[in-house]
Amino acid sequence: MASLIALCLLALVGGALSQDAFDPLKYVDPLIGASNGGNVFPGASLPYGMAKAVADTNSGSNQGGFTLDGAPVTGFSSMHDSGTGGNPSLGNFPLFPYINCPDGDINQCAFPKKLRARFGSFSNSSVSAKPGNFALTLNSGIRAEMTTTHHTSLFRFTFPPVGPDGQPSQPLILQDLADLADSRQDNGTVSVDAKTGRITGSARFLPSFGGGNFVLYFCTDFKGDEVLDNGVFSNSRASTAVKNLTISRSINGYPLPGGAFVRFKSGAPVLVRTATSFISAARACSHGETEIPTFNFASVSNTATEAWAQKLKPIRVSTTGVSDSLVKNFYSGIYRTMINPQNYTGENPLWSSSEPYFDSFYCIWDLFRSQLPFLTITDPAAVSEMIRSLIDTYRHVGWLPDCRMSLNKGYTQGGSNADNVLADAYLKGIDGGINWNDGYAAVVKDAEIEPYDWCCQGRGGIDSWKELGYIPVQDFDFKGFGTMTRSISRTLEYSYNDFCIAQMADKMNKKSDKEKYLESSGNWQNLYKEDQPSFWWNGTNTGFTGFFEPRFLNKTWGYQDPLNCSFPDEFSACSLQNTGRETFESSIWEYGFFVPHDQATLMTLYGGPSAFVRRLDYLHDQNITYIGNEPAFLTVFQYHYAGRPALSARRAHYYIPAFFAPTPDGLPGNDDSGAMGSFVAFAMMGLFPNPGQDVYLITPPFFERVGITHPLTGRTAVIRNVGFDPAYRDIYIQSATLDGKPYTRNWIGHSFFTEGKELVLTLGRNESSWGTRVEDLPPSLGTYAGFNGTFSARAAGIKRARSYKGTFGMLGGAS
Ligand SMILES: *[C@@H]1O[C@H](CO)[C@@H](O)[C@H](O)[C@H]1NC(C)=O
Ligand SMILES: *[C@@H]1O[C@H](CO)[C@@H](O)[C@H](O)[C@H]1NC(C)=O
Ligand SMILES: *[C@@H]1O[C@H](CO)[C@@H](O)[C@H](O)[C@H]1NC(C)=O
Ligand SMILES: *[C@@H]1O[C@H](CO)[C@@H](O)[C@H](O)[C@H]1NC(C)=O
Ligand SMILES: *[C@@H]1O[C@H](CO)[C@@H](O)[C@H](O)[C@H]1NC(C)=O
Ligand SMILES: *[C@@H]1O[C@H](CO)[C@@H](O)[C@H](O)[C@H]1NC(C)=O
Ligand SMILES: *[C@@H]1O[C@H](CO)[C@@H](O)[C@H](O)[C@H]1NC(C)=O
Ligand SMILES: *[C@@H]1O[C@H](CO)[C@@H](O)[C@H](O)[C@H]1NC(C)=O
Ligand SMILES: *[C@@H]1O[C@H](CO)[C@@H](O)[C@H](O)[C@H]1NC(C)=O
Ligand SMILES: *[C@@H]1O[C@H](CO)[C@@H](O)[C@H](O)[C@H]1NC(C)=O
Repeated sequence: MASLIALCLLALVGGALSQDAFDPLKYVDPLIGASNGGNVFPGASLPYGMAKAVADTNSGSNQGGFTLDGAPVTGFSSMHDSGTGGNPSLGNFPLFPYINCPDGDINQCAFPKKLRARFGSFSNSSVSAKPGNFALTLNSGIRAEMTTTHHTSLFRFTFPPVGPDGQPSQPLILQDLADLADSRQDNGTVSVDAKTGRITGSARFLPSFGGGNFVLYFCTDFKGDEVLDNGVFSNSRASTAVKNLTISRSINGYPLPGGAFVRFKSGAPVLVRTATSFISAARACSHGETEIPTFNFASVSNTATEAWAQKLKPIRVSTTGVSDSLVKNFYSGIYRTMINPQNYTGENPLWSSSEPYFDSFYCIWDLFRSQLPFLTITDPAAVSEMIRSLIDTYRHVGWLPDCRMSLNKGYTQGGSNADNVLADAYLKGIDGGINWNDGYAAVVKDAEIEPYDWCCQGRGGIDSWKELGYIPVQDFDFKGFGTMTRSISRTLEYSYNDFCIAQMADKMNKKSDKEKYLESSGNWQNLYKEDQPSFWWNGTNTGFTGFFEPRFLNKTWGYQDPLNCSFPDEFSACSLQNTGRETFESSIWEYGFFVPHDQATLMTLYGGPSAFVRRLDYLHDQNITYIGNEPAFLTVFQYHYAGRPALSARRAHYYIPAFFAPTPDGLPGNDDSGAMGSFVAFAMMGLFPNPGQDVYLITPPFFERVGITHPLTGRTAVIRNVGFDPAYRDIYIQSATLDGKPYTRNWIGHSFFTEGKELVLTLGRNESSWGTRVEDLPPSLGTYAGFNGTFSARAAGIKRARSYKGTFGMLGGAS
């Protein structure tokens, strides 16, 4: 017995050792997406942390603060968003260090942001970015290192002994009442404490993709060198005699430079602790004092590293045979899913509540597709808090947000897609104190009540939606106001939103609601124009007929070229412009696949499974879709619905690594808060969600083995490839077992993760019959037809596109 126990212990220790030897953090490169428009935040942060410290450049692509595109640094700031388009977010109250001011004269130091750029160049090779840490060396010789706690950034500036003028160093560190977008409004204030050099202040700023404004406060303390003197600056002039400043935005639109500075005596390294708060400067000071009481850089840095190690620990892959660059792609993608949304719990001045408050849902149109579903697997406790925050936002603001940043409503891009997020979490059993009755009331409100201002919440055109069964182009809407474009994509997204509500109603046993929303979830069919062809601009016929088209209030058809807004269609306005098209950031061609709940009926309308596959191939092969934007994500895997899971695997291997390299310029577009990162992680893991449903589509992982330990149940779900080929020629599933029993479905539900099941996939070089039968296909509202080679739309019971709202005859098929 004793020796047996000893053996077991040895085995355990051995297992623990070999497990601990695997360090996912070494595969995380935060600089992926730091150039070429990835717009990621590559700096120091905790998971979901509010403090995000990095060097800010003045690049035109500095939405995430830092860029590796040759643009110089203009400051070191503590608040950021990640991967966003539009205006840069945050970047408030940047610090900037000088070795000394020429001739010891403070007025010879450059205070305004524009002038600082001259002193902000650095070489790429000096940049170091690791989870929780960021550092670079300015060409002036100043080394800037930074790390963070939840609300506080700790910077360490190390100075060369002499300045560029040959005089001994006598460092000056300034703090500017600026932000990245120069959005500061009137009456920014700053004060510096004569004795300690503590700088406190606040200013009002604008959110980067929405209306409204917000006030942010800060508190900065110094340690490491003796204070020589201090004061404030206004525009390019400074004085040690003045300690307080209230400054205007100025009348010409440019916020007048203004802030405070502290000078130091000896040139020793200076630790700078900057905390922020949306509540008060006193609160910011208390964050700094409690989170980093001793200014111990190594200790804060280790704690941050450990927080990331804990978050990545549940996901373990076998790296045997796989290139480091693919492993890096994988773990870096996962890392980026936990930068945003940001946890502002306790920092919300807008309402008082004991619920969590998360911000930087930027935007849910991007996040619902794979980022939030990814966190549902790897960090369900965080997702509970996010959902509670969304529901609490509904309680206090009146609506679920579609986008939210810096305490403000962001613009809605299409549907009320928080509905999809709530349904996804509800169906997957996320609880953690969520009031699902309120959650259900929130999604029903989206479907039933039109907000006066649907720019940034809810849906527009609800009367038309109910009357006509679609959003008409040039709608007459006197109840609510928003940008009257995107009638096709809004119809498609509202249809899916309603399906998501129907599923919640079903699980809550609300029968009549279920039927009502299932019916309206079929509204997408009302915009299907079966005789619509599609020609390239040179006149060549694509060969496909039957597309969604806009429709007027009087039920006659409008027209939009089905290729309009495909990539790259630089001639079109396809975003939120008033002149925008009827599809948002994507073509009718691509939206032609966005019926996530009823692929069977869509496939039938398109002429059956093989015609569906030909169309999907054409979408990808002709580059009509672009993987750099989120609507493309699901199209990579929709072959599953046509019984061709092998083709999904092949597409995934085409896009990764071709469009996702683990380099600063390696992302195909904005990371969008980690949306791209989650696409990579899911695709490489071998399961891709159909978000809003309890469905993951199975493809072989890019690794021999993937293990995911559920953080709440402690069970480990494993996907194992038998016959794994690291050259990725054998990427086709021949057969599968689930917990040892044959498994032929090409999809699986969330209990795979919560119960820790084992899926073993046997791979081969050719497509097989695995997962191809009707009974193997993922759920769909309508009935699959035409899977035996003899396809006839008539036989399948599909009639012409309906010209008015009627009953949707296939509801019986709903689950
Ligand atoms: C490095 O620096 C150069 C010049 O400053 C810049 O053009 C380049 O894009 C940078 N980034 C990388 C990743 O090389
Ligand atoms: C700035 O302060 C002045 C004087 O107190 C006040 O009249 C004005 O409304 C303030 N402006 C803003 C934008 O807060
Ligand atoms: C300067 O600001 C500090 C902190 O806000 C305040 O305590 C002090 O009274 C102010 N001094 C003057 C002269 O306004
Ligand atoms: C969010 O912040 C609150 C307050 O600091 C904390 O209690 C909670 O654990 C945080 N949640 C996550 C997911 O980090
Ligand atoms: C027209 O354009 C399409 C798409 O770029 C291309 O496939 C086709 O070959 C072109 N046809 C002619 C006649 O140039
Ligand atoms: C329907 O409305 C459109 C747009 O206002 C108009 O161009 C068209 O002539 C109308 N058709 C009929 C039949 O009324
Ligand atoms: C898209 O639509 C606009 C406006 O109708 C048109 O000018 C443009 O040429 C179209 N682009 C393509 C690629 O069809
Ligand atoms: C599509 O894009 C890829 C990658 O940029 C390129 O290799 C391919 O030739 C393109 N195909 C067409 C038909 O334009
Ligand atoms: C795969 O298919 C090719 C062509 O259809 C065939 O020549 C080959 O023998 C097949 N390989 C295996 C392992 O079945
Ligand atoms: C063909 O049809 C039969 C009877 O309808 C069905 O049992 C079988 O599963 C179908 N085969 C495929 C490959 O879908």
